[in-house]
Amino acid sequence: MTKHHQFDAIIVGGGGAGLEAALHASKSANVAVVTKLYPTRSHTGTAQGGIAAALGNMEPDSWEWHMYDTVKGGDYLVDQDAAEILARDAIDAIIELEHMGLPFDRTPDGKIEQRRFGGHTANFGEKAVMRACKAADRTGHMILQTLYQQCIKNKVNFFNEYFVTDIIVEDNVCRGVVAINVADSEVHLFHAKAVLIASGGFGKMFKVTSNAHTLTGDPVAAYYRRGLPLEDMEFFQFHPTGIYKLGILLSEAARGEGAIFINDKGERFMERYMPTLKDLAPRDICSRCIYEEVRAGRGIGGKDYVYMDFRPGTINKFKSGPGGRDVTREHLEKALPDILEFARVYMGIDPMKDPVPIQPTAHYAMGGIPTDADGRALADNTNVVTGLYAAGECACVSVHGANRLGTNSLVDLVVFGRRGGKAMADFCKPAGFAPLPITAAADTIAEFDRIRAGRGSERAAAIRADLQNMMTNYVGVFRNGPDMQKAVEGVRELKARFKNIKTDDTGKIFNTDVLETFELGCLLDLAEVTAAAALRRTETRGGHAREDFQERDDANWLNHSMAYRADDKRDAAVTRCDIRFENKPVTITKFQPKERKY
Ligand code: FUM
Repeated sequence: MTKHHQFDAIIVGGGGAGLEAALHASKSANVAVVTKLYPTRSHTGTAQGGIAAALGNMEPDSWEWHMYDTVKGGDYLVDQDAAEILARDAIDAIIELEHMGLPFDRTPDGKIEQRRFGGHTANFGEKAVMRACKAADRTGHMILQTLYQQCIKNKVNFFNEYFVTDIIVEDNVCRGVVAINVADSEVHLFHAKAVLIASGGFGKMFKVTSNAHTLTGDPVAAYYRRGLPLEDMEFFQFHPTGIYKLGILLSEAARGEGAIFINDKGERFMERYMPTLKDLAPRDICSRCIYEEVRAGRGIGGKDYVYMDFRPGTINKFKSGPGGRDVTREHLEKALPDILEFARVYMGIDPMKDPVPIQPTAHYAMGGIPTDADGRALADNTNVVTGLYAAGECACVSVHGANRLGTNSLVDLVVFGRRGGKAMADFCKPAGFAPLPITAAADTIAEFDRIRAGRGSERAAAIRADLQNMMTNYVGVFRNGPDMQKAVEGVRELKARFKNIKTDDTGKIFNTDVLETFELGCLLDLAEVTAAAALRRTETRGGHAREDFQERDDANWLNHSMAYRADDKRDAAVTRCDIRFENKPVTITKFQPKERKY
């Protein structure tokens, strides 16, 4: 029996963007958060190193420099009107979080302490600057806890462990969402005047990833299956410092505190590639440099990884400590407690005594649901879907362009979550409830019935493993046409196998077998778009490094890509779906594209 609920505003996702939006919308609207996880278990909690804002607490800084770094870091594919909002509003947003009680680290005179991060510079690229505000290496965790407390105080309603399967859009008007209660598989219809999607990323399409198991992009796939566009899906960020083979993140904050990369010969190889920023070059560049070393046979023991070296002796030898001061063991233990612990627990390595094996890990989707600067979801290059919003990693406002700067994800979700929440609240005041179609839950019920009844020969786990291997091998740090073609065709074959699925658990209580199979269908759709968009873009830009097109090509490709599902069937098990691509112009205001030198 389908259960019905009605709220002014529904937020899908209980991470940083969702909670910011919920908090601000709840100042005048009746709000519910519908979230797959208990909110404080959301992936924002794993964001470690910091949140950027040009507070200038440690040394001179300005929002224009932050904006410039964001645009240049994104290889000029950033919409500069949005980047200006990000850099300007970051300052206010951090002060607001501070006033909510977020326990930031402090300087001796009581200001918020800041550290260095990749690609953050003073005076338009002249030298590294300390811009990342932080709470040790638990910054995201603190943001999540602070916002959740505020939402509870503001009487936001929470539907925890409710899995959103569909977004109800008819005649270009959003009317609510469909969700499954994980505990008992009951279908719930959430009728709303406005919906904001804040479901995070979808890195589980890759084998080695920093993303949690739940990051499968289900609402993003639902958006795409509605015939609505996804923007810049070819741009996926590979963070240089995942724990070898596991992908778990070791924050860039480590290098902000002075840690360095070392190859098999003990060389600090980034000095050769990036003489100014060295180990604190942007992530796309560091990831490529690591693989250049591996290709040249200088990976550790000839293998496909290098070391990140935290040992105070090594750091001080290279004199790269913060502000040039000596780095001590005590300082590192205080500044980086979690990641030192991760190395000890997951690798059995004490980073104070031995260097830690790392390799690039799939970390962040620059693309996603296109929005304007108030979080309104776009139906095409210019028109919005009435009542539908998105914010955070699942959205593409586009402040990250072709490569996101470290710590700009937390700024993005705070700044644009807040703007989206306020815009929703304003929308809800005069708006009425558009009627729900009678068949609103029909697609969800049909797909879950199909999966639960699956008696074929294919296991979801096997298809998922094949997908993750394929995406990592063919659409990874370095890319080329023939490999990406294999990925596009390979994903289509996996979609055919997905039609022949076998399900063991036919019950209704916490049926993760069925839910994970549904998630796999979403990942398959999103991976297909990612691979096809990457194949189509015949240039190298930011995180999209093509071996067969090694130059950036502004004449042909200074455009966002917009991917539409070209067939009109919304059946998740459709084997082959033709993707229609369009271009969307990049908004350039202050900074004309130029060569991206560091
Ligand atoms: O390295 C990190 O702490 C990650 C931060 C980010 O992705 O912004």
